[in-house]
Amino acid sequence: MTKILLKDFQIKQLGPQHVVEILALQERIFDSLTDKSTLRRNTPQMFEMCVQPPHYSLGVWYEGNLVGLAILYCPDMGEENLAKCLQGVEVNAETSANYKLVLVEPHCRGNGLQFHLGLLLEQQALIMGKTVMCCTVSPDNPYSRNNMLKLGYIYNRTLIKYGSIRDLYYKTL
Ligand SMILES: CC(C)(COP(=O)(O)OP(=O)(O)OC[C@H]1O[C@@H](n2cnc3c(N)ncnc32)[C@H](O)[C@@H]1OP(=O)(O)O)[C@@H](O)C(=O)NCCC(=O)NCCS
Repeated sequence: MTKILLKDFQIKQLGPQHVVEILALQERIFDSLTDKSTLRRNTPQMFEMCVQPPHYSLGVWYEGNLVGLAILYCPDMGEENLAKCLQGVEVNAETSANYKLVLVEPHCRGNGLQFHLGLLLEQQALIMGKTVMCCTVSPDNPYSRNNMLKLGYIYNRTLIKYGSIRDLYYKTL
């Protein structure tokens, strides 16, 4: 995979005007996946929600094309609240956020984007008063798992989420 300097990517906040591009990116990523169970397909309605407050999404552009994204999802106390699923740790689920989704196009992988975007989302989470971040990773996705561990996320437990087996991680901010 081509090595690209991080500075050659343009990273900026996504808004409702980007939803068509986001959906096209999601489809390209799905087409490239050999094991499609490692990723949950998001609906247009979900993306429309994620690009507006209280949520916060970042897009990555390379040579004018959207090649990646990362979503900070700020759940209510409903079923999307991953902190509620944690066991054996004292966290405040009301001030939790999820590193919900990260996508990087195959030709742009290997440049540390998941890690870098994770740091940017954490900065934003702190600004929003969040105290804990959570994420789920497929046990069959070593690339994503390695990045979450590098970011300092801690494995909590394995559970069935979104109809699939997922490892649950958290990080206290
Ligand atoms: C997970 C993902 C975002 C990681 O992308 P990334 O941040 O560019 O990955 P990294 O920079 O950490 O890559 C580290 C190494 O793993 C390789 N790698 C990363 N993802 C890979 C993949 N899906 N398949 C094969 N190799 C991959 C990179 O090429 C790099 O190799 P190198 O060290 O030889 O150069 C990306 O693989 C992806 O978009 N996958 C599909 C969506 C997904 O699973 N998202 C996570 C769940 S929400």
